[in-house]
Amino acid sequence: MGKKVTVVGAGFYGSTTVQRLAEYDIFETVVLTDIIDGKPAGIALDINQSRAIEGFETKVVGVSTDPATGAGYEAIEGSDVVVVTAGLPRKPGMSRMDLLEVNAKIVRQVAENIKKYAPNAVVIVVSNPVDEMTALAQLATQFPKNQVFGQAGVLDTARFTNFIAEELNVPVASVKALTLGSHGDTMVPVPSRCTVDGKPLSELLPAEKIEELVVRTRNGGAEVVALLKTGSAYYAPSAAAARMAKAVAEDSGVVLPVCAWVDGEYGISGVYLGVEAELGASGIKKIVEDKLTDSEIAGLKEAAEAVRAKQADVANL
Ligand code: LAC
Repeated sequence: MGKKVTVVGAGFYGSTTVQRLAEYDIFETVVLTDIIDGKPAGIALDINQSRAIEGFETKVVGVSTDPATGAGYEAIEGSDVVVVTAGLPRKPGMSRMDLLEVNAKIVRQVAENIKKYAPNAVVIVVSNPVDEMTALAQLATQFPKNQVFGQAGVLDTARFTNFIAEELNVPVASVKALTLGSHGDTMVPVPSRCTVDGKPLSELLPAEKIEELVVRTRNGGAEVVALLKTGSAYYAPSAAAARMAKAVAEDSGVVLPVCAWVDGEYGISGVYLGVEAELGASGIKKIVEDKLTDSEIAGLKEAAEAVRAKQADVANL
């Protein structure tokens, strides 16, 4: 049997994720669902019509669902991975946290249907605020914690990488960067783990410039939202989510920064938080703890406490 991946939510984030997953040509089927009548089927038809040009065989199936009754969700049966993009995006001036209540209702219903129809699927959550929505998806599915994780670090790291490469006018491929922590105000870009052609970033840029890039990375999503005026970023976010789904489908063992359940790593327990983890067919194979500076560990702990407080709230939403 070929691999099957589902993307829930046919907005820009969901549809571009589906396009990337289909173009990888490693899945037999990519399912796209949405509550809007016809939209996922229309996007699926459109992407399938690009197969002859782009040269991939993966079939995209678009299905409209009723999350209250679960009608339509039988289409996700047998999925190896489900990417949850459902929910509202930010408007200019909004923080991701402003979406907490409205998206909690949506993500809870989606998660309940995943539990019912695809109990073995690895769930990758991208809906915002992502750290809290990931915790909620785990609560609502009651899946093992390693089977549910969130996307943020791959995106935030890619943004940081891009800013460093532009600042130094070097190829992005020469830059190694890392961000951990939450996907929000307590994001922890990790300059001590950033190198350019193997040289520490601190030898290439003054501390104030690095701090400027850190702040820009932390506001990376908001900067795009402010320019777009409607909706939020989706090209880089979908690249991140698709890459994570690929790692799971291929059982690759690649280490990526993701929003994962931490249980003692860095002295932090019992919270979903951005850390590095090895990804495979079961989801998170293991959390990878590496050397950080004291101030970076302090940042991670601060992020953990901020997320912990909000994660407790979502249990009742
Ligand atoms: C962003 C959204 C997707 O960071 O959280 O662009």
